[in-house]
Amino acid sequence: MKRIGFLRSFRLRLFLIIMLVGVLTAEVMRFAQLGNYRTQLVSEKTMEVLEQARIIANRLVNYNYLQNPSSEVIDSQLEQLSMLYEGRIIVIDENFRVIEDTYNISLGRIMIGEEVIRCYQGNTISNYDESSRYVEVAVPIQAMVGHEVEGVLLISASTDDIFRGADGIGRRAIILELVYLVLLIGIAAVIASVIVRPFDRVSKAIGSVVSFDDETPVVSDYKETQEIVDAFNKLRQRLKVLDDSRQEFVSNVSHELKTPIASIKVLADSLNVQEEVPTEVYKDFMQDISAEIDRENEIITDLLNLVRMEKGAADLRVENRSINELMEQIVKRLGPLARKNEVDLILESRRPVNADIDEVKFTQAVTNLIENGIKYNKHPGWVKIVLDADHQYMTLDISDSGVGIPEAELGHIYERFYRGDKSHSKEISGTGLGLSLTRKAILLHRGSIDVTSTVGEGTDFIVKIPLSFIREQKDKK
Ligand SMILES: Nc1ncnc2c1ncn2[C@@H]1O[C@H](COP(=O)(O)OP(=O)(O)OP(=O)(O)O)[C@@H](O)[C@H]1O
Ligand SMILES: [Mg+2]
Repeated sequence: MKRIGFLRSFRLRLFLIIMLVGVLTAEVMRFAQLGNYRTQLVSEKTMEVLEQARIIANRLVNYNYLQNPSSEVIDSQLEQLSMLYEGRIIVIDENFRVIEDTYNISLGRIMIGEEVIRCYQGNTISNYDESSRYVEVAVPIQAMVGHEVEGVLLISASTDDIFRGADGIGRRAIILELVYLVLLIGIAAVIASVIVRPFDRVSKAIGSVVSFDDETPVVSDYKETQEIVDAFNKLRQRLKVLDDSRQEFVSNVSHELKTPIASIKVLADSLNVQEEVPTEVYKDFMQDISAEIDRENEIITDLLNLVRMEKGAADLRVENRSINELMEQIVKRLGPLARKNEVDLILESRRPVNADIDEVKFTQAVTNLIENGIKYNKHPGWVKIVLDADHQYMTLDISDSGVGIPEAELGHIYERFYRGDKSHSKEISGTGLGLSLTRKAILLHRGSIDVTSTVGEGTDFIVKIPLSFIREQKDKK
């Protein structure tokens, strides 16, 4: 049995693709939204800290803090704010000296940072330090906007509190995502099986066809699977035709093979039951028996030839031969039969013709055509063979003055074992395999055969075969 890999299942692949798309979309959306949310929180926090810083800066001016930095009210306010923000507050006077630091690290030191200088020029600065997650603001300390800048207030505030909130939201998002994932699995499974269902149905329907005799065509409920179903129905019809012809062939073969044997049996039995048989009768019967054996032999030879022909062009032994010479040989060989039937054999070679042919099969095909012309003829009668060629094809025109073939029979003469008009087939020997062999041989040579016939006047077969054999083409049967 053929092994089918894990991912060979169309349904499974579909399921995985839908899952992948669903999960990716959800992830991208989650990150985008969470990112947005955080940015918004940070900017809100920055605004809030800035606002506070301005209020404090005003208060510092009001309390004259820069000149007298020992106000306990202010100090405690700064401490409280510093704790609230989990950050640091620094006040710098006009000499760039730190006069207050809630961390007590830089007190009394000179601090000339870029933001401090810009602040002295009257600017308000805010900045978010991504790595430490701190919002940093610097505001000028001045009586009013536009007035002289007396100092700078620096506040840094932790954003951990807001991220704690955001993380909480992130956790909720994960739970939601899990729920979404479960839903997604369900939806993906449903979609995958809905899409695959038509194919399942078709394969079940095809699988349920067990014999060629089951004539009901497989039907498809969907447009997409209709083509598969149509192809299958066509194939089934062709197989049925093949199967029918095979059965017919087998029954014909058995019948044809049995007929001579039945005759031999009757002849032998009738000799056996008679007591004293004169030698002449014996001889007579023996001749009949011998004729029947010849006939049996003929049928078997024809059958074997037919089987060989089925193998196709691969078995063709093509050789470039002079067709004129070959035709003379064939006509010569058929001379005695023609004379016996009082039939004139006329061969007309219009020009020298050389062609690529398999001598044995070509001879068989042509012999049968001429033989038919002789057999199914009037007495006296004639058979005329005209050999001609152009630059591509040779043409053999074999016509006779014979009995002709009724139009209704013309379509059947190439069938195996077909013998026309039973009245004359009794007295004229033949198996009915001749023309089917002839046609096969000609098709193997990539040639064609055509027939026209008028009852009572005669028949005309025209055979065309390419002068050069083309091997690459696919075999025609
Ligand atoms: N030239 C012809 N004139 C009249 N009828 C013909 C001619 N050729 C073929 N037929 C008809 O076609 C039938 C089939 O021919 P085919 O050559 O296949 O078989 P056969 O001659 O009967 O037997 P076989 O050739 O196998 O010995 C013949 O029985 C005959 O009725
Ligand atoms: Mg024949």
